[in-house]
Amino acid sequence: MKNIRILVTGGAGYLGSILCTELVKRGYQITVIDLLKYKKNSLKHLYKKKNFKLVKADIRDNQIMKKLIKDNDYIIPLAALVGAPLCEKNKKEAISVNLSSIKSLVKMADKKKRIIYLTTNSGYGIGAKNKFCDERSPLRPISLYGRTKCDAEKVIRKHKNSICFRLATVFGKSYRMRTDLLVNNFVFNALKSKKLKLFEPNFRRNFIYIKDVISAIIFSIKNFEKLKSNVYNLGLSSANISKLTLATRIKKQLKFLKIEVIKNKSDPDKRDYFVSNKKIEKKGFKAKKTLEFGIKELVVFFKRNKKRIINNY
Ligand SMILES: NC(=O)c1ccc[n+]([C@@H]2O[C@H](COP(=O)([O-])OP(=O)(O)OC[C@H]3O[C@@H](n4cnc5c(N)ncnc54)[C@H](O)[C@@H]3O)[C@@H](O)[C@H]2O)c1
Repeated sequence: MKNIRILVTGGAGYLGSILCTELVKRGYQITVIDLLKYKKNSLKHLYKKKNFKLVKADIRDNQIMKKLIKDNDYIIPLAALVGAPLCEKNKKEAISVNLSSIKSLVKMADKKKRIIYLTTNSGYGIGAKNKFCDERSPLRPISLYGRTKCDAEKVIRKHKNSICFRLATVFGKSYRMRTDLLVNNFVFNALKSKKLKLFEPNFRRNFIYIKDVISAIIFSIKNFEKLKSNVYNLGLSSANISKLTLATRIKKQLKFLKIEVIKNKSDPDKRDYFVSNKKIEKKGFKAKKTLEFGIKELVVFFKRNKKRIINNY
């Protein structure tokens, strides 16, 4: 472990800060490049660790990236403008960070570099009600965010020494919290206003706990040769559920919650799908943490951090 060097771009973010904490704990040599756009201290607890280094810079700086890529064995490119609203507001930046920088990265990486890339599965199931999706299903992203991520995945897959994960909607606490993700958002709003307003309540999504995503990445580092040159859906198979079921499960833990279904209002996000995670499960990784566990943890987290957490999207 001691000799494995990993570059994590965007390592100060929601997923990155938990990932780096786990990788440092396990003894990997970790370098993060991040602009610290949001939470400035999400990696502060790692600053004194000998196997951790933070470079505060832009991933679009090719000179810096060239050296960092050369000095590392694995690259986990997480830096991005994440989510449809943020990308709509900053179109040029979204394209240059989410797509152009990935093209440059792949050009700069020699064949031996191992890349692990995370994208969203949100392009599945668009316009196809109750669709069952596996990795062969067409991805038809509707947002600029989804399109940049899908195009970047295609670029990464040309680099044969790579593994791509298409993630379900992630839930759970982090050093850099996101309250836009559906489960996090519902729990946050349930506590704040004691009410949830749902439209398109029967639209189904797939979910996954944040530390299960991290475990999958660590599994893929350890089993790289077995998994490489492939793309995998990554979600909790028991959590292909509707928005209404999710709200009901939150209500089980927050009895005061009122759920209001709004009719005649459509969700701009047209996802309604059942995602199969069998491909990665057959390789030996299965997400385990339940929604109930994550909801419980989120309730404690939001109550404790009441004053510091704002709806950040
Ligand atoms: N969270 C999810 O549910 C989810 C699902 C699927 C895929 N992903 C992917 O995982 C990755 C991380 O997502 P996240 O939820 O942690 O997002 P995040 O917004 O919390 O983190 C992104 C990080 O990138 C950094 N960054 C942005 N532009 C940069 C630049 N030009 N140079 C250097 N750093 C820059 C930010 O400062 C931030 O720390 C993204 O690529 C995202 O598309 C996330």
